Amino acid sequence: MAVPFLNRSSKREQVISVDLGGRTTKAVCVQRQPDGFVLLGFALMDAPIYEKNLSTELLAEHLRSVCQTLNTKTRSLVLSLSLSESVVRHAELPQVPVSDMRQIVKNNPKNYLQQELPGHVFDCYAIPARAGAKMPDKGKPSGPPKERVLVAGARKQMVDDIQAAVKEAGFIPEAITPGLLGPVNAFELSLPEVFSREVVALVDIGFKSTSICILQEGELVLSRAVGIGGDKMTNGLAEALGISYAEAESIKMGMPTEVQTNLEGLVLPLGRELRASIDYYEHQHDKAVSQVFLSGATSCSEMIVQMLQTELMVECKQWHPISSLRLSLSGEQAGEVESVSPQLTVAIGAATAVL
Ligand SMILES: Nc1ncnc2c1ncn2[C@@H]1O[C@H](COP(=O)(O)OP(=O)(O)OP(=O)(O)O)[C@@H](O)[C@H]1O
Ligand SMILES: [Mg+2]
Repeated sequence: MAVPFLNRSSKREQVISVDLGGRTTKAVCVQRQPDGFVLLGFALMDAPIYEKNLSTELLAEHLRSVCQTLNTKTRSLVLSLSLSESVVRHAELPQVPVSDMRQIVKNNPKNYLQQELPGHVFDCYAIPARAGAKMPDKGKPSGPPKERVLVAGARKQMVDDIQAAVKEAGFIPEAITPGLLGPVNAFELSLPEVFSREVVALVDIGFKSTSICILQEGELVLSRAVGIGGDKMTNGLAEALGISYAEAESIKMGMPTEVQTNLEGLVLPLGRELRASIDYYEHQHDKAVSQVFLSGATSCSEMIVQMLQTELMVECKQWHPISSLRLSLSGEQAGEVESVSPQLTVAIGAATAVL
């Protein structure tokens, strides 16, 4: 499933995929082979600044250094936008070619995305109907037939600036895509049985925000962004304990048992928001979410995963998107990849979706 705002149609075998995270930029190099996908390398680097509106020059410079460490010859690059930089919504649109759908949404975003989005570009992905699924139009003979579509939007200026930066860095911008969908695409490859048969939630805990995607038997039925991530937890600890941000960060990561009670109070609001999304889905569809799969660097904390499980009352576990890939890594990277794998979900999902 891909809703790239920009997507060159040429076939490619290898791609660099960059996830511009709020705290850490993640990049992977993935190759398509007849028997599946191969991970050729990965890189993690501090995000240049934590502010918006990175200049084209700075972004180009950053992309150059991230990709340098990948040590690859491919110039094709796909880039994922962070949650705050793109909107993803479900909509019902007439059954027309995607280019027409884009225009329909552009002409009236309020109607389809519940908000005015001036100066945005859009892309659409028609969701294939599940066997036995009820068509939205059933029982309504009037009007053209409609289908369920995933619509993504992003500011045109930003998409143009990113394209310019990718080119300035010496790469070919193959696709720019919403990061929200990365985990969904990676999960489908990683756990195809669970993906197609169960109702699960994918939760990616980031720096400033967290995404939740509910998948029902292979279909993305709900997605939401919650404005709480690792940054709020560290800030909260620093404030409660009267220590610096850096000290709080190191305690959170190194000695979380020392601050368990404080951390509980900080994880609770996130748990509540996620539970509210799950409740909303369960009431609408009369089905229960059976498992929650966590990614993002925060999911490396067993204590936080446990706290979320207590709040959500659903089994919560960290998952590894690399399980579906063949690894062809240098010795050093081969030893490191397991520990950073939950941070690579967005980049891996975006890479495999365009290959
Ligand atoms: N072992 C750990 N325990 C708890 N928190 C951790 C751990 N390791 C990293 N974090 C937290 O993870 C956060 C960064 O996560 P990540 O790198 O996944 O974010 P990001 O992808 O850059 O952000 P976003 O997805 O919002 O764009 C930081 O707030 C950091 O404190
Ligand atoms: Mg992230």
